[in-house]
Amino acid sequence: MRQFEKSFLQQEALPEAAIESAVEIMRSGRLHRYDATPDNPGPTALLESEFAAYQGSSYCLACASCGYALYVAMLAAGVKPGDVVLCNAFTLAPVPGAINNCGAIPLLVETSSGLTIDLYDLEAKADQADFLLLSHMRGHLADMDQIATICQRYKITLIEDCAHSLGAWWGDQRSGNFGEVSCFSTQSYKHLNSGEGGLLVTDNPELIAKAIILSGSYMLYDRHLAAPDPSEMTRFAKTTPNYSGRMDNLRATVLRAQLPELDTNCARWNQRYAVITEVLAKVPVIELPDRNQQERFVGSSIQFLLPGLTQLQMTAFVSDCASRGIQLKYFGSEEPHGYTSRYDSWEYLGQSYILPATQQRLNCLVDMRISLTFNLDDCRLIAEIISEVATAHG
Ligand SMILES: Cc1ncc(COP(=O)(O)O)c(C=O)c1O
Repeated sequence: MRQFEKSFLQQEALPEAAIESAVEIMRSGRLHRYDATPDNPGPTALLESEFAAYQGSSYCLACASCGYALYVAMLAAGVKPGDVVLCNAFTLAPVPGAINNCGAIPLLVETSSGLTIDLYDLEAKADQADFLLLSHMRGHLADMDQIATICQRYKITLIEDCAHSLGAWWGDQRSGNFGEVSCFSTQSYKHLNSGEGGLLVTDNPELIAKAIILSGSYMLYDRHLAAPDPSEMTRFAKTTPNYSGRMDNLRATVLRAQLPELDTNCARWNQRYAVITEVLAKVPVIELPDRNQQERFVGSSIQFLLPGLTQLQMTAFVSDCASRGIQLKYFGSEEPHGYTSRYDSWEYLGQSYILPATQQRLNCLVDMRISLTFNLDDCRLIAEIISEVATAHG
């Protein structure tokens, strides 16, 4: 029986330029973002400018994580304790966690056959909230034209969670350019790797001013480059608390070195994704989620469903794949583990959600990382092993 030997968790090494610049920063001792000089704004401020330019946004703030960036984004957008925030039911724990951190209440929305937020359920619940935290979970983009229409109709402020959609587009607009504010993750298993990190972008000067101060600017906000005039920030300096969560120069410098390679890497992920889907699409028991023509996603992971299998059979399928070296994550497990906590394990929210469509999809949904350390032959082998195991269980 064929076996896959490589690790699903192994990342590619960082580019040499990242390693060299990290060593340089460590030699300088200037790790704190505000340890800058008049002629050298430091890598964090430069990263913010470069990322804003990449994204086509006016402003950017680098944070300690995407979960933190989402928290600050919501506060700066006006989310208050007790507010209701609409959010996908199919997302990962940091998303409801960020809402909870604001003292707000997530109102979970059902999942479509494309694994995006269900637009009918969203519209049905839209009059109950002023905010939507839209998670482009695993890089699946909802119909952004319809999302924009619903948000306009119900006067909802859109916050995009682009942790999994950096480099993706909806039509001719980048994911992250639809919301009032959007957040990206640079945690190791995302599209840029600094171990941990988050990037917040917006075109709203008041929102970024508040976000910068919330992130802990120690009244040094005039050192930001991807920011409005300091007078804009002075307006909020005394009325906005410091919830320290800055990015440091070490992480920023390794991210700067990766940014020029981002689009090439997105294309490399898509090549691997195409090889895997070509094989899986031919397996009768496997269903691939719908993808809209407008969606130009980044295939850094793949999700598929086996709707004919019971939860018990799904568990056996995942375990048989594991015994042949294929690490799949199963979203239907009763108990959360790995990265797969699901809505019914967020007991701290104190709500019981009835989400039959989401439940049905998660019960037969598996998820697999696509590492750039896999070559195209690896991807073919992975898909063929999955196909063999699925066919045996089907
Ligand atoms: C969908 C989603 N949103 C947000 C986050 C938060 O990212 P971070 O780990 O950088 O806080 C994650 C992290 O895995 C995620 O999966």
